[in-house]
Amino acid sequence: MNEFDSPILSVRHLNKQFGNGCESCRTQNPEQMLKNYCPVCGTVYACKDVSFDVYPGEVLGIVGESGSGKSTLMKCLYFDQEVTSGVAYIHTYKDGKKNLFEESGQYKRYIRNHLMGKVYQNPILGLKMDFSSIGNIAEKLISAGERHVGTMEARGIELLDHVCIPIHRSKEAPKNFSGGMQQRVQIAKALSNKPPLLLLDEVTTGLDLSVQASVLDLIKNLQRELEISIVLVSHDLGVIRMLADRTLVMLEGRVIEQGLTDQILEDPQHQYTQQLVHSLL
Ligand SMILES: Nc1ncnc2c1ncn2[C@@H]1O[C@H](COP(=O)(O)OP(=O)(O)O)[C@@H](O)[C@H]1O
Ligand SMILES: [Mg+2]
Ligand SMILES: [Zn+2]
Repeated sequence: MNEFDSPILSVRHLNKQFGNGCESCRTQNPEQMLKNYCPVCGTVYACKDVSFDVYPGEVLGIVGESGSGKSTLMKCLYFDQEVTSGVAYIHTYKDGKKNLFEESGQYKRYIRNHLMGKVYQNPILGLKMDFSSIGNIAEKLISAGERHVGTMEARGIELLDHVCIPIHRSKEAPKNFSGGMQQRVQIAKALSNKPPLLLLDEVTTGLDLSVQASVLDLIKNLQRELEISIVLVSHDLGVIRMLADRTLVMLEGRVIEQGLTDQILEDPQHQYTQQLVHSLL
């Protein structure tokens, strides 16, 4: 990334709440709230006024404890959930002038299929476990308009090879694979239409440490080679430290700190970030 590049993705004032809110919580008076939850009406304020940019070829880390709103943010960006309010622009989409959240379903599908890839913590959400691995990739290629079987097969094999799935296993279903291999297939699928932006939500959480290291290594290598931009979400600052150029820290739905990862690790400003960093040492 360099400072003269424009961001590939810009997000401003993103809010997501579950519930309609009530008089008590609309003012967001902290004394009336239990973290992000209103005890009067039960509304959860999962993301509050989240703004950030993602630059070409960078890894942006998002770190925060469980429940801080990381997955909700990723779901909103991938249109798995509707935002309550806010805007997002992709620089290469309609000259960066169209708020993605206001696009029709048809255009949102286009954006998901061509401009973004997503990898879920739970592979069941990202893969058809009974389809062959190469079939999972073909499905994504078809959704982006590919029709030629030979092309799809060649691309599928290339992608699986890229993520180190042996070619002779390409017809096997992900349900037969280990957790680490399933994540590799998800990554291959997410990359299949060469999107400029990859969204990774806790992709190594729950894997054995050695497997986790090898998947992180793969992500790092792919990112360098493809010069793709990545938003990497994790509750584990160790994972963020390994990969992220810049980092946002989330707490109770808000971004409480952001900056270069090295700077945040060396000189955390917010008390919560200080705790996170100290627990790494
Ligand atoms: N569908 C939903 N309905 C109500 N509350 C939800 C829903 N999804 C998430 N939440 C709440 O939103 C908050 C943020 O959750 P989430 O984005 O999953 O956090 P994280 O990924 O950081 O652990 C949590 O308080 C969670 O309970
Ligand atoms: Mg989550
Ligand atoms: Zn309320």
